[in-house]
Amino acid sequence: MTHRVLLTGAAGQVGSALREGLRGRFPVLRLSDTRDLGEVRDGEEIVPADLTNFDEVRAAMEGVDAVIHLGGIADEHTYERIRDVNMDGTYHVLEAARQAGVRRVAFASSIHTVGFYPRSETIGPDVPVRPDTYYGVSKVFGEALGRMYWERYGLEFVGVRICSFQPKPKDARHLSTWLSPWDAVQLFEKAVTAPGVGFLIVAGISGNTRRWMTEDGWDLLGYVPQDDAEIYAADVEHLRGNPEDITEQRQGGIFVDPEYRGLAGKEG
Ligand SMILES: NC(=O)c1ccc[n+]([C@@H]2O[C@H](COP(=O)([O-])OP(=O)(O)OC[C@H]3O[C@@H](n4cnc5c(N)ncnc54)[C@H](O)[C@@H]3O)[C@@H](O)[C@H]2O)c1
Repeated sequence: MTHRVLLTGAAGQVGSALREGLRGRFPVLRLSDTRDLGEVRDGEEIVPADLTNFDEVRAAMEGVDAVIHLGGIADEHTYERIRDVNMDGTYHVLEAARQAGVRRVAFASSIHTVGFYPRSETIGPDVPVRPDTYYGVSKVFGEALGRMYWERYGLEFVGVRICSFQPKPKDARHLSTWLSPWDAVQLFEKAVTAPGVGFLIVAGISGNTRRWMTEDGWDLLGYVPQDDAEIYAADVEHLRGNPEDITEQRQGGIFVDPEYRGLAGKEG
């Protein structure tokens, strides 16, 4: 039974939605972040931890059955920041999970593991990776680390390649990439509860008519998306860039632009 679930990055965009949506779904939801998480409510515990600090992550892992690992930098940044937070941070989570005897880790991976694939191709989770940024490389690293922890130590791992988590689609690209909040809740709940998945990578999208990623693995999780971005088509269809630009041709969007720096230069 999944008694206590640790949610890293619980103060973030996806984390806040999962905190609400998973309320009451597990006896204990342990929330962790470096940012303020507000008041603790029934069925919650708050254990702050900086992902770059192994001892803090290990303390947050005590007594945990499964982990939903969302914490990290959710955009491009300098190589060093991405390495410290996303790569070392994910290593800390997996190693602490192994030491604590955790059964499964669900990992927030990304479309940016495969961002250079053309939009004309529909891709499954087993295609060769084509990361578009250091950020995308860090998600490839997380998936590879997950594979190693599964094969070597039997720690189960589900990598969810989230595409665009938004309340609703904001532009034409999101008609293919949208992951609705309710579908995100269902997907991550099943990613930690579905029996016997071993190691799995799946697309993190709603049931979008125009999706560029296959459904492979959704049946193993029992994930049946409720939403389809298509109902917003009339509102956002016209919101697209120049079709000659590489950012309009590849799945990663703006991230494939060689000038794209994300948070680098904006943050310390
Ligand atoms: N939002 C999307 O569309 C999307 C798409 C693909 C992948 N993802 C992944 O999903 C996860 C959640 O994304 P989000 O949109 O909620 O991002 P977010 O930036 O809103 O949340 C990330 C959280 O991680 C925390 N964090 C950052 N550095 C930390 C550290 N050193 N120690 C502890 N906590 C730290 C932040 O405080 C923040 O609350 C991320 O791993 C992101 O890469 C998101």
